[in-house]
Amino acid sequence: MKSGATSGGVAGFVPEADPYYYASAETLSFLDKIKRISTKHPVNVLVIGKQGCGKSSLVRQYAAVHQLPLATFQIGILSEPGQLFGEYALENGETKYKQFLFPQALQTPNCVIHLEEINRPEHPKALNMLFSILSDDRQVWMDELGLLSVADGVTFFATLNEGDEFVGTELLDPALRDRFYVISMDYLPNDVEIEVLENKTGVTRAQAVEIIDVVNTLRGNADLMVDVSTRKALMIGEMIAAGGSLREAITSG
Ligand SMILES: Nc1ncnc2c1ncn2[C@@H]1O[C@H](COP(=O)(O)OP(=O)(O)OP(=O)(O)O)[C@@H](O)[C@H]1O
Ligand SMILES: [Mg+2]
Repeated sequence: MKSGATSGGVAGFVPEADPYYYASAETLSFLDKIKRISTKHPVNVLVIGKQGCGKSSLVRQYAAVHQLPLATFQIGILSEPGQLFGEYALENGETKYKQFLFPQALQTPNCVIHLEEINRPEHPKALNMLFSILSDDRQVWMDELGLLSVADGVTFFATLNEGDEFVGTELLDPALRDRFYVISMDYLPNDVEIEVLENKTGVTRAQAVEIIDVVNTLRGNADLMVDVSTRKALMIGEMIAAGGSLREAITSG
């Protein structure tokens, strides 16, 4: 986000649709309602799920399907409140305020703004300015930039990684949590994951079935303390499609 994120850039772009992205009927119906609400006022959605289960893809596909610009920001690396907005930098011996892309994204009508790892800012106060933006007044005052208002049709998607160390929204500030519609994601159903593997990596159906068998064994083994994500399953599939053995793919995946 930081590098090159100065004023004048484009805050977001419409992503390409993934022809092999699978979303359940329930998820599609939920997102359809979110789209409708977003035409009345900006709306916030919190996507919860394990690492690599498809959270970022969901946000990207929402933007792709509705042909909306997408802008993604890492919240997990923030260490102070104003850091998303801009910074003072020395230019020709003068200190100047340089705006980052976030203020632009806020002011881009219909922008889908993805806030990644909202539960993990390096400093808790880093979220302070987001509070007002995500609350009903939808604006924030900054000495450097004046009053910033969220444009019509903006949708915020925050993603939160559920891990062993915590589950659900328990680590999210309740006041922040209160501002979101929540959707929980899990790994794909077996038959779907097999199809995604076939389509995305080029393994045969038999190979895909074999991979998912092993993956399920690993997922079901609590002692191993590993979670094989859809991302990992796809990496295993790619290794096999490239000529690797199942054993090789599993140990390196
Ligand atoms: N429902 C799905 N259909 C097709 N592919 C999927 C699906 N879910 C995940 N994938 C694939 O799995 C990989 C990981 O997905 P993604 O990056 O969206 O996960 P994530 O939950 O955002 O991960 P992280 O927790 O690391 O941020 C991507 O290659 C994505 O295309
Ligand atoms: Mg992600």
